[in-house]
Amino acid sequence: MGAGNKFRRVAANFGDNSPVNSNCAKDGLKLYPLLIQKQKNFEKKSVLSHVEAIAPASSANLGAGFDVFGVALDGLFDKVSVDVIKGGKDIKISVEGKSSELIPTEPNKNTAGIVAKALLKHSNKNCGLAINIEKGIRAGSGLGSSAASAAAAAIAINEALQLNLPSRELIKFAALGEVAAAGVPHADNVSPAILGFFTLIASHNPFDVVQLPMPKNVKFVIVTPEIILETSLARSVLPKKVNLSDAVSNIAHASAFVTGIMTNNIALMGKSMNDSLAEPYRANLIPGLAEVKKNAMEAGAEGIAISGSGPSILALVDSSKKVEDKVMKAMKEGFEKYGVKSEAIIAKPGCGGKVVRREEM
Ligand code: HSE
Repeated sequence: MGAGNKFRRVAANFGDNSPVNSNCAKDGLKLYPLLIQKQKNFEKKSVLSHVEAIAPASSANLGAGFDVFGVALDGLFDKVSVDVIKGGKDIKISVEGKSSELIPTEPNKNTAGIVAKALLKHSNKNCGLAINIEKGIRAGSGLGSSAASAAAAAIAINEALQLNLPSRELIKFAALGEVAAAGVPHADNVSPAILGFFTLIASHNPFDVVQLPMPKNVKFVIVTPEIILETSLARSVLPKKVNLSDAVSNIAHASAFVTGIMTNNIALMGKSMNDSLAEPYRANLIPGLAEVKKNAMEAGAEGIAISGSGPSILALVDSSKKVEDKVMKAMKEGFEKYGVKSEAIIAKPGCGGKVVRREEM
C-alpha cells in the first residue's frame, strides 16, 4: 500500500472508530476491568452511580505545531471518579496525588469542575456531581496535566449521565476546562488525551480534529526539570502578532513534520521540530534549555522541542537506534549544569482516555 492510500485510510477515520485505536480497548480491559455492579446495600443512598475514567499525559506543539499538534503518551495518566448525586446541581471536587496541593477545588477554577458544569448544563439533568481527581501527572510540567483531568472528567461524566456524546464533542467540552490552566480553551492536549496517538486540530471554527498513527519506531525521551511553569505564564510572554517569515517557517516545518509521519520518516519528523512562534519567547523561562537541546542532539536524538508550554523537554528518538538511555542522560546533564534537578521518562504514543469502572447503585 502506498503512502497515498495510507493517508486516505487513516485520515478518513476520526476519533471513535479510528483503526489507530484498535488495540486500545483490549489493552485497557486487561489492565482496568470495566465493572458494572449492582450494590444493593450501598451506604450512601443518595449516590445514583459511580464512574471512573482515566486519560493520559500528552505533549503538545511538537515543535512547529503550536496549539495544533499533540500526542498522547503511554504510562502516565490521571484518574477521575464521578458520583452522580440525587437532586440539586452541586459540584464538589477533591484532589489527591501528584501536585494536588497546587490544584484548586473550587469548581469554576478547576479544569474538571468547568467541564462538569458545562456537561451538567448540557444534560439538563437534575443531579449533582461529586468528583475526585487522582493526579498521576504533575501540574505545571508541560505534560498535559490539566488536559488529562479535563479529558477524564468529560469521559467519566459522559458515561455517568449517559449522554452518549461522541469523542469529538467531548473534546470541545474538555477544551473548556483548559481555560482554568491556560486562560484559553486550546484543544491540542485534550484531543490526544481523548482520542489517543497523534492528533492535529484541522480547523478551529468549525472545530475539526484529525488523528494519525506515528511510525512504529517513534519514542520520546521526556525530561522534566524540578520547576513549575504555569501555562498561563508561558502564554503571557508570547507576542500577539508574529512576523510573516516566522509564520512561513512554522508552516514549512509543520508540513514537513506531518509528511514525516505519513511517510514513516522519523529523521524528517525530527528535523522539522523547529518553532519560531513560541519557543524563542519561552526559552528564558526554562534554565538550561539550549544546553539540554544540544546535548540530546549530540547523543543521537532526531529532534527536540519544549513539551507544550514547558518546562518539560521532549526529544524524539528512533527506537531502532537504541539511543534512549544516552539521550536521557545527556539531557539530565544539561539541566544539572544549570543546577536544576530533573526527572525523566521514556514514552511511546499511546491510547486515549477511557471508562475503567462503572457501578450502578
Ligand atoms: N499549545 C499550548 C501552549 C500547550 O503551548 O501554550 C500547553 O500545554
